[in-house]
Amino acid sequence: MSAAKTPDSAAPQAGLGRTTARAPSAPESGRGGKEAPAWRRKHLLGIEELSAEEIIHVLDTASGFAEVSTRSIKKVPALRGKVVANLFIEDSTRTRTSFSLAAQRLSADVLDFYSAGSSLSKGESVRDTARNIEAMGVDIIVLRHSAAGAAHYLSRCVNTSIINAGDGQHEHPTQALLDTYTIRETKGRVEGLRVAIVGDIGHSRVARSNIWCLQKLGAEVTVVGPATLVPKGLERMGARISHNFDDVIPEMDVINMLRVQSERISSRVFPSLHEYTWLFGMTPERLERAKPDVLILHPGPINRGIELAAEVADGPRSSILRQVANGLAVRMAVLFLVNQAASVSA
Ligand code: CP
Repeated sequence: MSAAKTPDSAAPQAGLGRTTARAPSAPESGRGGKEAPAWRRKHLLGIEELSAEEIIHVLDTASGFAEVSTRSIKKVPALRGKVVANLFIEDSTRTRTSFSLAAQRLSADVLDFYSAGSSLSKGESVRDTARNIEAMGVDIIVLRHSAAGAAHYLSRCVNTSIINAGDGQHEHPTQALLDTYTIRETKGRVEGLRVAIVGDIGHSRVARSNIWCLQKLGAEVTVVGPATLVPKGLERMGARISHNFDDVIPEMDVINMLRVQSERISSRVFPSLHEYTWLFGMTPERLERAKPDVLILHPGPINRGIELAAEVADGPRSSILRQVANGLAVRMAVLFLVNQAASVSA
């Protein structure tokens, strides 16, 4: 995988990814005519609307940016003069810091907005907050919000590019992209792999975005969880459904363990956390029955000892911190691509 060659390079070079998709900076096709850019979206609102080619283009662009983090000077000038605002109206550790660092590595100015201490507490709407931030000359707003559809809504209220950093129980597109990137990096492919997404499926935007993303790239996805945490109709997304984790473990190439989202669970959906762990927790004993090269993922934050035993989280099959490291390259790619598309459409 190739990448930008010098600290002054603005972006990964075209045509160096794992597919024939060309970076949007590629001026012309080899056949002499103009080739349509592989990415033309000013916003990243979800995975559902993306094509397989667009997903692969993001992953290939991220592969190029991954090299930047290995340099002594971890910066490229791709977004010099641009302003990225992180508008996080719901708590985050990984996504906010990752977007913030990704924007800084692209040489953007970064505005980290915290809802605590802001005029949201005085009744200002998110729309008005975003429009005021836009009036200060912000180019990209990265939005996390507890309401499904918030990013789509905001994209209709402002001219700025919007990146969805998680909207309620709907989508978390960059998490799915970094999960898929990690799978491809480790396994060398996504097509044909069997991937289990395990746990609190109903409350999980990560599950939804991963199901779209992995299936578009040809993986076979099985969602696993108690019937009370797997929404009815989910099979319409194309995923297989199982309520028996022990049955599916031996078949899987990748097992993505989800957090039990206690803050979103309003009624009693399983008898006790102990019982949940007994039936759906990834323990060392269960790992013994998985394929020897199974890849264990978790989007974080982890409830250690509930959905994932500490020995597994910190063990050799776990790629959890690799996911976090890859998230930086993926978010650099997304910021770069939406900014480039916005510049072309302006
Ligand atoms: N995975 C994830 O979205 O983590 P944060 O909530 O910490 O951003």
